[in-house]
Amino acid sequence: MKKEKFPTNTSLLLFFLRGSKKFFILAIFFAALVSVLDLINPRIIGFTIDSVLGTEKSNLPAFALKIVNSLGDASLSGAAWLKENLFAVALVIIGVAVLSMLCRFFFRLNNVTGAETLVRRMRDTLFGHILKLPYKWHGENHTGDIIQRCTSDVEMIKMFLSEHLTSLLRIIVLIALAIFFMTSIHPLLTLVSAAFIPVIVSYSVVFHKKIGLQFRKADEQEGVVSSIAQENLTGVRVVRAFGREQYERERFETKNEEYTNLWTRLMNLFAAFFSVSDFFSYVQLITVMVYGVYLSVHGQITAGEYIAFISYNNMLTYPVRRLGRVIANMSRAGVSLDRLRYIMNSEEEKDREDAGEPDMHQDIVFDNVSYTYESSNVEVLHNIDLTIKAGTTVGILGGTGSGKSTLMYLLDRMYELPEENGRITIGGVDIADIKADHLRKNIGMVLQEPYLFSRTLSENIRIAARDKDMDEVRRAARIAALDDTIDRFGKGYDTFVGERGVTLSGGQKQRTAVAQMLIRRPPVMVFDDSLSAVDAETDAKIRAALKENIQGSTVIIIGQRITTLMNADNIVVMDKGRIAEQGTHEELLAAGGIYRKIYDLQTQQSEVSEE
Ligand SMILES: Nc1ncnc2c1ncn2[C@@H]1O[C@H](COP(=O)(O)OP(=O)(O)OP(=O)(O)O)[C@@H](O)[C@H]1O
Ligand SMILES: [Mg+2]
Repeated sequence: MKKEKFPTNTSLLLFFLRGSKKFFILAIFFAALVSVLDLINPRIIGFTIDSVLGTEKSNLPAFALKIVNSLGDASLSGAAWLKENLFAVALVIIGVAVLSMLCRFFFRLNNVTGAETLVRRMRDTLFGHILKLPYKWHGENHTGDIIQRCTSDVEMIKMFLSEHLTSLLRIIVLIALAIFFMTSIHPLLTLVSAAFIPVIVSYSVVFHKKIGLQFRKADEQEGVVSSIAQENLTGVRVVRAFGREQYERERFETKNEEYTNLWTRLMNLFAAFFSVSDFFSYVQLITVMVYGVYLSVHGQITAGEYIAFISYNNMLTYPVRRLGRVIANMSRAGVSLDRLRYIMNSEEEKDREDAGEPDMHQDIVFDNVSYTYESSNVEVLHNIDLTIKAGTTVGILGGTGSGKSTLMYLLDRMYELPEENGRITIGGVDIADIKADHLRKNIGMVLQEPYLFSRTLSENIRIAARDKDMDEVRRAARIAALDDTIDRFGKGYDTFVGERGVTLSGGQKQRTAVAQMLIRRPPVMVFDDSLSAVDAETDAKIRAALKENIQGSTVIIIGQRITTLMNADNIVVMDKGRIAEQGTHEELLAAGGIYRKIYDLQTQQSEVSEE
């Protein structure tokens, strides 16, 4: 097996963390500081009650006692001085609170900066990577799923780092310190209090693990609901045209109800969980209080110590419960990382190391090419031998599904041709040895189903040639017989093309795609059924204009209409993945094969329609 780029989740996480790690480290540092500061005040209050107001021996650490003792003068001990000046205690408590606030602020600041930096890097990296993945990969993976991975899973990982991981460390520091302070007050009481922690944490972990499964179900259902919505919005024309609103609405409502039920069930589970864990917490609190009062009454701890102890105990209640959730959620982040790792480990399209950039004004040769799509197992091209002479125009005619588009995908390396399936060469160089970028820049393809972006017309025409000026845009539009149409639009070339070009007619879209390629004038031009939605007259007009403007280029025109192809230097007739015949228009007519049959059929049809 090939070595994966990111063999573990940790390696991927560290890769994503580049640039944001320092923020998270600072955030964790400040979070720990907050925990420490929060734990100081109960200590001060306990001391004040016992040693300042009462007469107990102080239990403050030595350095703190030194400070206190330095407060008084010869006539007054430190504690006595404090009793006279209680405001000083208040000031210290406020001081600690202010410090704690500042630390909280720096914690948040770093945490948020870290989280956003991380998310941005993740999105940019994923998007860049996905764009470079082979065309084949995109065919095998659902767009909706990819998008969900890039949104929900990214969000999940952000939550893990900015909420769960920092919480985890903060809670651990808090528990450790609190237990330390509590032990210094009374070890046995601490043991009673701490004995509940494993119970509550394990209960919480078990619950959250279980609920994780429910969450996944809800997530999947959400995916179902949103894909119904998405499908209907993109296919709104079809929905209207077939009067399927009612049906689609009912389908949506059923799925939506299932989704709602899942959430209701989830919330019920949560309600049960909180009741039970509240109960545990109360039992713990009552036990600690009763035992603490007993100890206090029997003089084993002071009143101040008792109050401090109860404060620590309360401080722990919430974090301990949260700990279970954090631990359980960490496994969800693991699932998300797995899902992103799948994308990041998919290999980007790469050129061979010695790939070159040869001149493309040369003969294109298909040498014994056979092809089977990986997903289907049916061979769609069988032993194709075809030479396309540089600078000539070749027409490819063939029934639907005969493999015409596949042939062009292979030429453009949208799908890689396995070595044992023959060779495609340009000027004698195997296309596998040509840089993909160079190949595609030089082979202009007007795809069978043109895709337009939701930008203006001129931007769309310029999409692959952004350095071209308006004059060239106009020239390309003129050859594609698009200029008249554009002039009729209110905003001309600045007309906004709706999502996927919905504001254009089929023929207008096709002609925009033709203009897209003509502006680049690449050495090889492929028109895959590009004028099928254009009327015969416009078709002829475009062909005439093309003829004048494609000098020097090798042109491949795929079509179903004989008139589109009949002027080509060579016409190839494809039938079920094989080349059935080839020659010039006259030769093929004389041969009396498939071409002749199609010709007769189409001329009869046009005679009928003319009558
Ligand atoms: N991505 C794919 N995965 C699996 N099979 C495919 C894929 N694309 C096309 N095919 C199959 O390959 C065969 C040839 O398809 P191709 O698109 O090359 O035909 P075509 O000659 O261009 O047809 P048309 O004139 O309708 O465009 C068809 O049987 C089709 O079902
Ligand atoms: Mg096709």
